[in-house]
Amino acid sequence: MQHRLVPFLVTVVLFSAGCSGGGSATTATSPAPTTTTASSITAAPTTTTPRFSSPLTGVGNDRGLGDSLYPDLGNAGYDVDHYTIDLTWDPPSGSLTALVTIDAHAVAPLDAFSLDFAGFDVTEVAMAGTAVDSARDGAKLRVTPAAPIEVGEAFSVAVGYTGAPEPVVSPAISFPVGWTGAEDGTQYVAAEPDAAHAWFPCNDHPLDKATYTFRLTAPTPLTAAANGVLVDEITDLGASTWVWEMEQPMPTYLATAVIGDIALVEDPAATEAGGVPVRNVLPIDLATDPPSSLALQGDMLTFFADILGPYPFATSGVAVVPGFDAALENSTLSLLGRDFTTNDDAFETVLVHELAHQWIGDSVTIGDWGDIWLNEGFATYLEWLWLEHRHGPAAFQSTVTRNHAAMVESGLPPPGEPPADDLFNSSVYIGGALTLHALRLEIGDGAFFETLRMYYDRYAGGNVITADFVAVAEEASGRDLGAFFDSWLHGPLPDLPTGQ
Ligand code: TRP
Ligand code: ZN
Repeated sequence: MQHRLVPFLVTVVLFSAGCSGGGSATTATSPAPTTTTASSITAAPTTTTPRFSSPLTGVGNDRGLGDSLYPDLGNAGYDVDHYTIDLTWDPPSGSLTALVTIDAHAVAPLDAFSLDFAGFDVTEVAMAGTAVDSARDGAKLRVTPAAPIEVGEAFSVAVGYTGAPEPVVSPAISFPVGWTGAEDGTQYVAAEPDAAHAWFPCNDHPLDKATYTFRLTAPTPLTAAANGVLVDEITDLGASTWVWEMEQPMPTYLATAVIGDIALVEDPAATEAGGVPVRNVLPIDLATDPPSSLALQGDMLTFFADILGPYPFATSGVAVVPGFDAALENSTLSLLGRDFTTNDDAFETVLVHELAHQWIGDSVTIGDWGDIWLNEGFATYLEWLWLEHRHGPAAFQSTVTRNHAAMVESGLPPPGEPPADDLFNSSVYIGGALTLHALRLEIGDGAFFETLRMYYDRYAGGNVITADFVAVAEEASGRDLGAFFDSWLHGPLPDLPTGQ
């Protein structure tokens, strides 16, 4: 793995000046459109039900639910409500044994349906306690229920499997992702964008968000952590089962497990300052001497809550793991590579970037991987705002200027057009953040920050595509911003507006 994936690191040293804002908002050119351009996959903003873009044709959905970059992922024929991942990790054999129960309901008539799943030996597939026919075909597991499932009908399918989990090659990224074992034995999952189905069977597309129960068993003295809240720990005959509940809908790519000789460390000071229970997962030797930036999490939580709205989940914190050169915003438990702990500024930057994703990406979730700039551009811009909060406007302005110059030089595609084989290229981060800064200069601070609040308020817990963000910005500013977003997201990098 490489630092390429965290290009925001290059920004930490930069800075700059007066982003005071204000200014040009009074030069509105045209009234806000009264009908928005919200896409077919994003319907009523307040519902958390996934919105599917492809026709619902039952088993034909084996071909995937129609993502613009990874069309084979997922299945549009059903909607998962809840995953129960009951998993036992066996260090001597390096393998796991799992039973995953998927509670779902049909959104198309289903004679059969597919799950995304790769690797392992499948030992059983059952519905309502009875074995059902199943077959594997590439990364799909096809299940044939005893009787067809009708539209709207709830069903539950349990899949038992065993084997050695391994990182997988993703079409999107140049290094293997998924379940990974570090040299010291720590196991962790970094699955974005498409490696969730290499550790549990699922509808592996961010449109299908669901709640989760994790029951993770590991031999004493290991600890097993996952997303959400620890609700139980059961110790029996030399092993413990750690039960974690993620009660807010989460896309598959953010589901994680961290198992090892690790400590769960509560942080009462950050909890007090942030207004959310903060607990971190640390290597044992760091537990008594944690990286100092972790103490900033309380302030970071209130900083983003002030900008966007209330923190979306029941708990917050990070897992620091060895042998991982990147960072990933797993819901409620971002994963940070231990190497960052040698540089306080770098650690603070990745910490704040991943925390920003809890609102943007984890709660407001993209409905298509082609809209990845909505995740990474926002997290990067929020990271720059934190930099300004800590180091002042000159630091902010210089960051903007330097990153604009770097983008001009980069030759990368515009942020709205990420290549399928290089999804997390720097343009989606930096070009995305510059797009937001340009928007701010274009519509002024008032309308810009109103846009951010409205966007989060409207789409928290749900899914979005770019058109939804554009519509909110147009509504907040009273401006037609179609040409503006077209040039920033799809054209050669524009100069920043002069704004004020
Ligand atoms: N979303 C991550 C970030 O915040 C980048 C990322 C994508 C990643 N896929 C990953 C990191 C897989 C580690 C492993 O920038
Ligand atoms: Zn990010």
